[in-house]
Amino acid sequence: MSEVKKDKKPILLSGIQPSGHLALGNYVGAMRNWVNLQQDYLGIFMVVDMHAITVRQKPAHLRNRCLSFAAQYLAAGIDPSKNVIFMQSHVPQHAELAWVLNCYTYMGELNRMTQFKDKSKRHEDNINAGLYAYPALMAADILLYQTDLVPVGADQKQHLELTRDIANRFNNTYSPTFKVPEPFIPKAGARIMSLQEPDKKMSKSDANENNYISLLDPPDVLRRKIKRAVTDSAREITPESPNSSGIGNLITIYSVLNDTSVDAVAQQFAGQQYSNFKGELADSLVAFLEPFQDRYNKVIGEKGYLTGILDEGANRARYMATKTLSKVYRKIGFVPAGRS
Ligand code: TRP
Repeated sequence: MSEVKKDKKPILLSGIQPSGHLALGNYVGAMRNWVNLQQDYLGIFMVVDMHAITVRQKPAHLRNRCLSFAAQYLAAGIDPSKNVIFMQSHVPQHAELAWVLNCYTYMGELNRMTQFKDKSKRHEDNINAGLYAYPALMAADILLYQTDLVPVGADQKQHLELTRDIANRFNNTYSPTFKVPEPFIPKAGARIMSLQEPDKKMSKSDANENNYISLLDPPDVLRRKIKRAVTDSAREITPESPNSSGIGNLITIYSVLNDTSVDAVAQQFAGQQYSNFKGELADSLVAFLEPFQDRYNKVIGEKGYLTGILDEGANRARYMATKTLSKVYRKIGFVPAGRS
């Protein structure tokens, strides 16, 4: 355990909700950055199952998806010997600190959260207290580990701001307890949009499967989805194509897969038919996901290996989280639990 203490790297923390299917958007927007940052940071990467139940889940699906997501973190290249990978619910300190932070979060603040408003609209029959208090749990996730950096997409910025406000409020009320985390906004912020509705973000939980590319889609499905992707009324690629939402999104995807710029792609394919470009894009996508899927299949086929990593991750996480939580309990005036 003492090796955790010696690890002086700054802490990077993130989590993905196990809902839907991990999509190319998650890889580009999140997992790829985690992999790139693991040299310089101690990464804490969770599958946030406790957040997922704010929306009704089928138990068997949730269980499979949680393991599948963890296996995909590994397949993406997150090294379990350098990072802490675990299930949120395996570390009870998340729920414990969340309760405390609920008492330091104002309803007025929660009322302003746009994700709560959106999700309330989408799940009108189940606007539960957990959905409402969700940002306090997310704040607990982050603050438990004295996190330095949180990679966030635009949709999570507001939650991170609130986390910072809660941390400052607590620190000012008592004494410095939590590190106030900084957002990490990746430089090359390629945003991957929906294939059928390219004006909205590609979402792993979209009801229409044709809107997203699942990292586990087999080649024929990948080809079909690209073929059906919405473009515009033009027929061939021009240097202006990156500005048109549908074809521009496909160009972005190609540029990400081939590690080049959108302008370079537009130039490379200038004058070519959309259909031809789509064929090339599908080839790139299949070639890109094949090794990922091979690694995934290996990991998911060896349950003992995966659960071993998750157990070790949870142990390390509990050790780190306990330190912060006991400080919090002491500062707010809870009587220390007896050790007799
Ligand atoms: N709320 C995030 C989302 O919906 C998931 C999440 C939960 C998270 N806890 C976190 C992200 C902590 C970053 C850090 O995407």
